[in-house]
Amino acid sequence: MNRKNHNLDDFWMPFTANRQFKARPRLLESAEGMYFTASDGRQILDGTAGLWCCNAGHGRREISEAVSRQVARLDFAPTFQMGHPLPFELAERLAEIAPEGLNKLFFTNSGSESADTALKIALAYQRAIGQGTRTRLIGRELGYHGVGFGGLSVGGMVNNRRAFPLQLPGVDHLPHTLDIPRNAFSRGLPEFGVEKADELERLVTLHGAENIAAVIVEPMAGSAGVILPPKGYLQRLREITAKHGILLIFDEVITGFGRVGEAFAAQRWGVTPDILTCAKGLTNGAIPMGAVFVDERIHDAFMQGPDGIEFFHGYTYSGHPVACAAALATLDIYQRDGLFRQAIDLESYWSDALHSLKGLPNVIDIRAVGLVGGVQLAPSDKGIGKRGYQVFEDCFWNDLMVRVTGDTLAMSPPLIVEKVQIDSMVGKLADAIRKAA
Ligand SMILES: Cc1ncc(COP(=O)(O)O)c(C=O)c1O
Repeated sequence: MNRKNHNLDDFWMPFTANRQFKARPRLLESAEGMYFTASDGRQILDGTAGLWCCNAGHGRREISEAVSRQVARLDFAPTFQMGHPLPFELAERLAEIAPEGLNKLFFTNSGSESADTALKIALAYQRAIGQGTRTRLIGRELGYHGVGFGGLSVGGMVNNRRAFPLQLPGVDHLPHTLDIPRNAFSRGLPEFGVEKADELERLVTLHGAENIAAVIVEPMAGSAGVILPPKGYLQRLREITAKHGILLIFDEVITGFGRVGEAFAAQRWGVTPDILTCAKGLTNGAIPMGAVFVDERIHDAFMQGPDGIEFFHGYTYSGHPVACAAALATLDIYQRDGLFRQAIDLESYWSDALHSLKGLPNVIDIRAVGLVGGVQLAPSDKGIGKRGYQVFEDCFWNDLMVRVTGDTLAMSPPLIVEKVQIDSMVGKLADAIRKAA
């Protein structure tokens, strides 16, 4: 097949309007720095770090060289009852940047697997410490924890859930924290909504703490459209979970690796969970990989008892040598270039730029923190999501990649973004918003 003349029929695209896409494809052929090159030769400014992945920008040679060296040296080695040095080295490096105490690492291949792994660790831990009645899991409305049955069950995005009514039993959801009437156009974290964490007390009263294993939330909900934690909310969740012996899991698949400043949101917002999941930015998106950071105390509870396999869980590719090599090279770049500081250094410029869109037609909220932002539009009378999709498409044909969820446009550029590129992104987004009025 001629590479320029693709047959688009056979790839069933994930989370995509396949027929719409195939009628007018948006194909990307290469990438460098802040730009993709589309199949028609256009340079597309990457406003989304790919899919919240490429925090160090595209085409980083240190990563591609590490990957090609590693695949030639040791393409694969099992990590079940065998080992090779790289995941040990990577775990040690990650433990150095982890929030306090979260220094045990379990490797996966994606954010979905990280979420399911974290939930399983939580359940197995409660059993291991003699709290086997703690089987209930609590997620949050509008949460996204990937597409495995565990993550799906605790997630709260209705379109992801409605076709799959067969989910994990014993799951509850906290209310989401999006409150446009009270918090629209807030700068930084919103003032109102800390009390939404108190809903956890209500669930404890309803079920009994002795039946609840864990709560999982994204510190900042990305996929549902950049929903920020109200001031004091994460602290409140931490207090309530600690008081009742419930584990707190942060899903940092999007917020990890510098997106909101510091390595993790846990550090930026000063709240340490018991378990933390990540993926995406771990390898700068170059090779699929995820990881679960686990508090030492939880890990050590598994290491009691008779000798033998302590946790019956793992993936063929947990700690894959090539993924580890990519992650190590990525960490080198983040640390050498000080990229975890970027989202703090650029935060006010970024936030001012996005907030300049206030007053454009149909803009009903703007939310920005670190180097992530969401611009929410009022739905058009054609239905929810139509206006957002039009803006997304227009941006693409005007050489800017953004994300769309419903009528919210989300941006999360690589952390190497420059101020002129921020100006260009916001200018193109403004044009598309005006056009969709
Ligand atoms: C917070 C969160 N968790 C989990 C996932 C799932 O990750 P993956 O698509 O790698 O399975 C995502 C993906 O966007 C995410 O944003």
